[in-house]
Amino acid sequence: MANPSAWGGRFRKETAPLANRFGASVPFDWRLYRFDVAGSIAHSRMLAREGIIEQSVQQDIEQGLRAALVEVEAGMFEWRLDREDVHMNLEAALGEAGQSLHTGRSRNDQVALDLRLFAREETLRLCDLTLDLQSTLVERAAEHVDDLLPGYTHLQRAQPVSLAHHLLAYVEMLQRDVERQLDAFRRINVLPLGSGALAGVPYPLDRQFVADQLGFAALSANSIDAVADRDFVVELLANAALCGVHLSRLGEELVLWSSAEFGYVEMDDAWSTGSSIMPQKKNPDFAELVRGKSGRLVGDLMGMLTVLKGLSLAYNKDLQEDKEALFDAVDTLADCLAVAREMLASLTFNIDRMAAAAALDYTTATDLADYLVRKGVPFRTAHRIVGELVAACVAQGRQLGEVRLEDLRAHSDLFEADALQAVAASASAEARNVPGGTAPPRVREAVVQARSRLAQTRDRVAALRGVTRAVDRLLELAQPGD
Ligand code: ARG
Repeated sequence: MANPSAWGGRFRKETAPLANRFGASVPFDWRLYRFDVAGSIAHSRMLAREGIIEQSVQQDIEQGLRAALVEVEAGMFEWRLDREDVHMNLEAALGEAGQSLHTGRSRNDQVALDLRLFAREETLRLCDLTLDLQSTLVERAAEHVDDLLPGYTHLQRAQPVSLAHHLLAYVEMLQRDVERQLDAFRRINVLPLGSGALAGVPYPLDRQFVADQLGFAALSANSIDAVADRDFVVELLANAALCGVHLSRLGEELVLWSSAEFGYVEMDDAWSTGSSIMPQKKNPDFAELVRGKSGRLVGDLMGMLTVLKGLSLAYNKDLQEDKEALFDAVDTLADCLAVAREMLASLTFNIDRMAAAAALDYTTATDLADYLVRKGVPFRTAHRIVGELVAACVAQGRQLGEVRLEDLRAHSDLFEADALQAVAASASAEARNVPGGTAPPRVREAVVQARSRLAQTRDRVAALRGVTRAVDRLLELAQPGD
């Protein structure tokens, strides 16, 4: 061969084997093949429409891409390390026809395109999984509106709350996680192709045609920015990390609640593990892992931010480091969401144990202070009086549910018989009848609202699926026999 290098005439030697291995991204970026093929089909069709390449050449290219797609999906495609990445492997598979495909295109805008197409689909997959988890939480909540447990601050029993209210707190967090992903979707869904290596391309490209073929809502406005930035990856990773952190709090509560100390939940056997030495153990491994994997998600975000920091414009090979973090984050979060959902769907709440705990340890002391406030005592004074009452109860080893009217009146003669009802856990929850509060009628309303918001959000995600189907449509034509 006249020229020994894959890099064309400029080189007199082949790349060193270690350099090949070190520089190659195909061991991981082959995963982008669907998007690479779809992008190349759209690009080649546009080149032919504009008369930049011959129609017959375009047909050869498209046929070759379809054949390659079939081979990849059958596991028959030979990914070669010396061809560095998914882009050059697929182009090389086209043989002679592939010679013209790269007209008016660079791998720099090509990889940005593929990654945006990938991020678009993964965003919607994560939204769906988040909505599924929310929906399980809402339905478990609906079963337990009237069941109380102690709400905690500082992990100390604080005030009685409805179990449904506690579960719905996670639904709110997850809803914001979905909203963030959907907001970021708008910034992902921008076509970078047509930026070339960095400066644009000297052909009359119809970028709008390519955008329409691929379902993009806008064209990138600056070719340098389009190939240099990965802020859409950072956003996805940040949203994933935050969602993972939310799930880690859920994981931690399942770990705590399934301990003998709390005894609030019994994890399903299918979602528990035993010990290799202690026959009695039933461990919440999967809840622990949901908690632990948030660490990876934070790490993926930190890694990507660090890669970008201080990079001069425009493309630098450092950017190749974007992919493994992104792949790891979407896969990790997808698993965590699905696992959290199955654990919640299958566990049993020990509502008697929760109810008993809700009534203990002076969780309704605030209600006694509020009682005095309603009798005209300033809150700070009422707080002090009830604090003294609690101290006396602690000294006597008595719970609030055990006090008699005379015990109360020893601290304030404003207490009357109805004060004894105010200390019931159920009365405490019922009293918190503000929007967003734990009073069961409010919580029932919240369940209804959460259900309808879930349906609306699912519709929004489904509408965006319509956008990503553009890729499927380009690829569907690529089935064998076509
Ligand atoms: N494999 C490369 C990446 O992932 C593709 C872009 C390569 N561009 C270049 N000029 N070397 O970033």
